[in-house]
Amino acid sequence: MVLLSWEWTDAGAPSSREVQRFAASAIPCIRILSASGGTFGRLPGGIAAYRRACARRTDMEREGFAMKVLVAYSSKYGATEGIAQRIGEVLSRRGHEVEVVRCADVDDATGYDACVVGSAAYMFNWRKDATRFVKRNAEMLATHPVWLFSSGPLGADTVDKDGNDVLAGAEPKQFAEFEDLIHPRGRQVFFGAYDPEGISGRDRIVVWMPAIRDLMPAGDYRDWAAIEAWAGSIADELGAPAGRAPEKEPT
Ligand SMILES: Cc1cc2nc3c(=O)[nH]c(=O)nc-3n(C[C@H](O)[C@H](O)[C@H](O)COP(=O)(O)O)c2cc1C
Repeated sequence: MVLLSWEWTDAGAPSSREVQRFAASAIPCIRILSASGGTFGRLPGGIAAYRRACARRTDMEREGFAMKVLVAYSSKYGATEGIAQRIGEVLSRRGHEVEVVRCADVDDATGYDACVVGSAAYMFNWRKDATRFVKRNAEMLATHPVWLFSSGPLGADTVDKDGNDVLAGAEPKQFAEFEDLIHPRGRQVFFGAYDPEGISGRDRIVVWMPAIRDLMPAGDYRDWAAIEAWAGSIADELGAPAGRAPEKEPT
């Protein structure tokens, strides 16, 4: 699926229409270009390979091209796993070949055309196996369409007592760190779920602290409509395989 990297041989500037087509495309080779910072002159090649890629993209659309999508997640108590499964269901209903797998179980993500990576947030950070997954697959992720999500804040309020957006304030530190590393196409925080009876070990001590306890109302706050809408927007970007009408969303 990575078409361009070794093919570029000549120089030249694409027309603005070509650039627009290219930017709208969802095939993985686009990431190679955008990873270059959008400066075509700095690409390891030129316009001929770019045009070949555009032509091939048109072929893919005509033939119907299902992306092989990896949804990799890290979940401690199951809330994030549920979100990952739902994202996978939406993408597969839209005709893509989807695997939903724990980050720790994917050594090498080579072979997938696109990737969604998500983790629960604990103490403002993604879980370590999700962070490790991204670092060990940084090269693949930087050259393919990738989206990140985090499951974290608890409660029904979308704005805190100071008027700040709760989801924006709950971005894990890794979102900023991974921006430069892998250039994700999107990053999203979702409300999570918390059952005080279900947690174990050090987490029990952390939530016992009054300042933390107040921020952690028990309950399942996962917003399935928001999760499905986000997954649907990813499916939109990846494009619908031809000859396969998107199935009706369950009511
Ligand atoms: C000890 C503890 C610390 C947490 N820290 C954070 C945090 O820093 N930021 C956040 O948004 N959510 C935090 N949460 C909420 C969890 O991220 C949320 O419950 C999540 O949905 C759990 O996902 P999981 O069941 O997949 O592990 C914390 C939860 C616990 C129990």
